[in-house]
Amino acid sequence: MCGIVGHLGTFNSLSVVLDGLEALEYRGYDSAGVSLIDRDGKIITAKKEGRLTNLRKEVSNLKEIYFAGIGHTRWATHGNVNKVNSHPHFGDGFSVVHNGIIENASELKEELIKEGYQFLSDTDSEVFVRLVEKISKTEKEFSKVIFTAFSRIRGNNCLVALNRDERKIYAIKNNAPLACGQSDDGTNYFVSSDPYALQKYIDTIYFPENNVLCVLSMDQEIAFVEPDLSDSNKFKTEKNSLLSSENTKGDFEHYMLKEIWEQPNLIDQFKIHLENEANQKFLTTVPKRIAIVACGTAYYAGLFAKNVIESRCRIPVSVDMASEFRYANPVLDKNDLAVFISQSGETADTLAALHLCKEMGVKALSILNVAHSTIYRESDFNLMINAGPEIGVASTKAFTMQCLTSVYLSERLMTLMGESVDLVKFNKQSSRLAKKIEEILSRTDEIKKIAESIHSLNGFFFTGRNKSFPIALEGALKLKEIAYVHAEGYASGELKHGPIAMIDEGVVNIAYIENNLFEKTLSNIQEIKTRKGIILTIGKTDTEELKNISDYRFPLDVDDLDDLSPLALNVFGQLLSYYIAKHKGTDIDKPRNLAKSVTVE
Ligand code: F6R
Repeated sequence: MCGIVGHLGTFNSLSVVLDGLEALEYRGYDSAGVSLIDRDGKIITAKKEGRLTNLRKEVSNLKEIYFAGIGHTRWATHGNVNKVNSHPHFGDGFSVVHNGIIENASELKEELIKEGYQFLSDTDSEVFVRLVEKISKTEKEFSKVIFTAFSRIRGNNCLVALNRDERKIYAIKNNAPLACGQSDDGTNYFVSSDPYALQKYIDTIYFPENNVLCVLSMDQEIAFVEPDLSDSNKFKTEKNSLLSSENTKGDFEHYMLKEIWEQPNLIDQFKIHLENEANQKFLTTVPKRIAIVACGTAYYAGLFAKNVIESRCRIPVSVDMASEFRYANPVLDKNDLAVFISQSGETADTLAALHLCKEMGVKALSILNVAHSTIYRESDFNLMINAGPEIGVASTKAFTMQCLTSVYLSERLMTLMGESVDLVKFNKQSSRLAKKIEEILSRTDEIKKIAESIHSLNGFFFTGRNKSFPIALEGALKLKEIAYVHAEGYASGELKHGPIAMIDEGVVNIAYIENNLFEKTLSNIQEIKTRKGIILTIGKTDTEELKNISDYRFPLDVDDLDDLSPLALNVFGQLLSYYIAKHKGTDIDKPRNLAKSVTVE
């Protein structure tokens, strides 16, 4: 969600902070701001509504070399998107940036207002600032002030404070991402909500645990401090080599398009990673049941995984949205396995569901893209999707690789069950998928033409059956996210139970067709056609009937892909959404109201 970057040292803090925020901007981009300490020892703060480029213009007159600064890109939760609500928020001699939600902000604010404190913004973040002011009146040790203020707030939060007089940066978190590190020569110190922003500066990244205070000061090792002010060893260390530096768009107009095109290569490369995955810690007994928990696109990958695991391993699988699962009093026992799917590994609801499972004594296996993420560190077992950084806010390659990894998981489970598993077969099947996706990419012009013809319609109903149902949901989500149009995903047989009332000549049914259940699917399409709906069919089985019924057609033979066939069909949906969004002229990589990593519940 919000992005945080802090720097102290010989480099110019303004450039370090702005460049870091730029790397994180895809995570939240309503507004941005920085606080810097200038040569006279004053804190100067600049904030601007909108994208980081607006802030860059605003601070272009700041020519000084600043040695300390913190910055923030906001994804608004409390208070409208405007300059006043943007971070940093400041008190006397300090400035604060915040990621998360202070759940008891209203009651604390009421208390502080009664005591005479005045609030400038509508944010929950400012509550922390006023608390710091209040506590500072009686407590001079800033570490203690931060700990006391932090102990008064509830929720998943990360706070970073710049202290003017001490020339230090303080950072603390509870169930929110936080990373820090220092340059090898000890001249520069960095903190961020995401190590991705720091990767060009540091070799070793520290991940403090909850409630450990990190104190960055010049010419000293970063200090990790416990609430009783003793030294803390509660932090993990990772080598920067875990992080990829593949973060440019290359010749592509958007990251999303680049990421769609990366898929064949990633699928081909996946087998190279399997040897490493096979050496990682894994379950030793077959789980009685599996509960998959995830959000959004990752949840749809979970639906795909359910089909694969149940059909191959015959282990019952449930799939829940993390935000529902945690409040649903789930029925699980110690012989079950909870599987969490998350690209970022930071999604607050998924993380909370993981904590719940661990409290229940249920083992947690996570399917992740980011190796140093919070979910990675807290899971018993991890399977990495190895998709590389996904910058486009709408997930594409991560979905494909999450699904592929779930097929690999099913293979591992079968090995545990004593079946002889043929990884060579799995690799061959993956190679066929990669080739099929290449074929779809090479036919981009056909998809562009279809997008041009249908982009101005009023409604888009994606349908699929069985293993293609999850990609009908995913297709609709992609289109909604980046083209801002009304799109829905349905199981083909469900439309007639209500949604068919929406069908008229302004609505298109984007129907994924597979050869199994072909006739039943054809009847479903016929029902839409009869109501004057426009029909776009994707898949093989080129019967006369199908040709006659389709207004638009994308023939594609996916029969030889077995379980993986939906992943090929889905690439059509990714490209269709992309080109419809291009016609709509939306901001494809950073769609409105969204953020890449959803670290609030
Ligand atoms: C949609 C999308 C989101 C994420 C969801 C979970 O394109 O990207 O729906 O899939 O927010 O995020 P992760 O996978 O990071 O847990």
